Amino acid sequence: MKITAVLLLGLTALGSAQLEWWQTSTFYQVYPRSFKDGGFDGIGDIPGIIEKLDHFVDIGIGGVWLSPVFKSPMKDFGYDVSNFREIDPIFGTMADFDALVVGCRNRGLKLILDFVPNHSSDEHDWFIRSKAREDPYTDYYTWVDPAGYNATGAPIAPNNWISVFGGPAWEWVEERQQFYLHQFHAGQPDLNYRNPLVLEEMNDVLRFWLDKGADGFRLDAVPHLMEEPGLPDEPPTNDPNYGPDQWGSLEHIYTKDQPELYDIIYGFRDIVDQKQGELGRPLVMLVEAYTNITNTMKYYGNGTHPGAHFPFNFQLIDNLKNETDAAGLQSIINTWFSNLPSGAWSNWVVGNHDQPRVAGRFGTQFGLTSIILGQLLPGTAVTYNGEELNMENTWISWADTVDPQGCQAGPDEYWRFSRDPERTPFQWSAEAMAGFTTGSTTWLPINENYVTLNLEAQKVAAKSPYKVYKRLTEARKNIIAVQTGELRTYVLDTHIFSFARAVPAGNPSVLVVVNLGFEDQVVNANPNNDLPVIANFYTGSLEAVYAENEEVSTVSLAIPARGALVLTYDALV
Ligand code: GLC
Repeated sequence: MKITAVLLLGLTALGSAQLEWWQTSTFYQVYPRSFKDGGFDGIGDIPGIIEKLDHFVDIGIGGVWLSPVFKSPMKDFGYDVSNFREIDPIFGTMADFDALVVGCRNRGLKLILDFVPNHSSDEHDWFIRSKAREDPYTDYYTWVDPAGYNATGAPIAPNNWISVFGGPAWEWVEERQQFYLHQFHAGQPDLNYRNPLVLEEMNDVLRFWLDKGADGFRLDAVPHLMEEPGLPDEPPTNDPNYGPDQWGSLEHIYTKDQPELYDIIYGFRDIVDQKQGELGRPLVMLVEAYTNITNTMKYYGNGTHPGAHFPFNFQLIDNLKNETDAAGLQSIINTWFSNLPSGAWSNWVVGNHDQPRVAGRFGTQFGLTSIILGQLLPGTAVTYNGEELNMENTWISWADTVDPQGCQAGPDEYWRFSRDPERTPFQWSAEAMAGFTTGSTTWLPINENYVTLNLEAQKVAAKSPYKVYKRLTEARKNIIAVQTGELRTYVLDTHIFSFARAVPAGNPSVLVVVNLGFEDQVVNANPNNDLPVIANFYTGSLEAVYAENEEVSTVSLAIPARGALVLTYDALV
């Protein structure tokens, strides 16, 4: 039997007094349109979130991150902001926001806002003035002359760049006789960060919300902030999975990950740090970057200048597959830690509003297993709303599809790209409309499984994802090994992987055993006798045969197919 132990974390101290709130917390992403409708228009809003604040406390959340609630024409459902300092009426009023801040404070919850620096809405006042060449807004966006005119007199785009949502990244504006760049929807013109006025405007937006009571930000889509100024064509990927107008058809070597963008991020961190000093409360800056691991790590800072407190770790989203075996999972984890700069803080994300739900990607059993991994691997855990119930993707017809990334792909292919399936309303109860709204319609259909898969049902069930989730967040708070224990990983068998979060004898250590295979197995999780023979079952898959706190034998553990067992034990030394 092959055993590989890797000691990856130097955090051997037992105490967590030196850790910050954002290190020990679980962050929870609220997708506001789908969380709770405080009214009856079928769209979630801030009053709805306020109604449900106690849910965050109940499930052990420390930081609530809201996807954008700012004024928006909703072409990308809030990621197209037409006023960075106003709340959209769909979501409520500034008074509602203020009440949310108070509600969070009263419960010891931190409130994180989504900051969308790459683009505004095409309905933003800056863009309207920019179109009209009204200074100082003339160069707030990336405007480019046509490459020429075709035989019919139509302007030709400056180059072959394609938007993330598909189709050209250039949109012609008659009024200005120029194209503007949009890396996402045409309703999301890219801001021009070569213009120092734009940077100053956006710095002010950060200051504004921190003054209003936000505890930090998640920075959206940052790899797209800068482009190569010569605007060269991007080379084709020749990937047969993508048509010529789809984003995957080009290598994005000139529109993503440009070296200049990191200084902008470090500058945003300076603003956050300055405000932290001024306001006297701890703030946090998180970054969303789909990029390779080397670039991901650059967001932490450059050694002299700090960047994000952490960029989201998407390794379990990008690399964990249904066919991954134990060595594969170990390698995903090792890759992350071997690239992590010294002193940098880890985190784990398994889902968000842009990714199919884990229950859909992996099936319900391994979906829950991936949530267990995300909570117990070293670092901060980030949960997407509904993961605490292991909510499933919802099938959405073409007629009901609203996500621009799905719509742009057309009726035959929308299902490959649409993000609607993971965005359907939260399933609170078996009542009409899943307890999400008192109205009679919802902006996206509710999953029909809400009758059985809902929070209320999971609260009363003997076993449920909700109950497992609560045990996990409790462990993060109460078991010091989960905060600071040394990580040791083991490949116990082709499909059996385990990891320990180890602290010296006298305090409980944690062992997580994962079955990546599709068969139930009985395993020896202690082949080199470095664990006690008896451990305690803490929590695990719903199919696990053990009861909470039951004594189990580490040399003979029954582990269900695709499942995970979480044990606590007292180390031998
Ligand atoms: C980020 C968001 C995504 C949005 C895009 C453009 O990736 O998570 O939902 O569509 O940025 O703002």
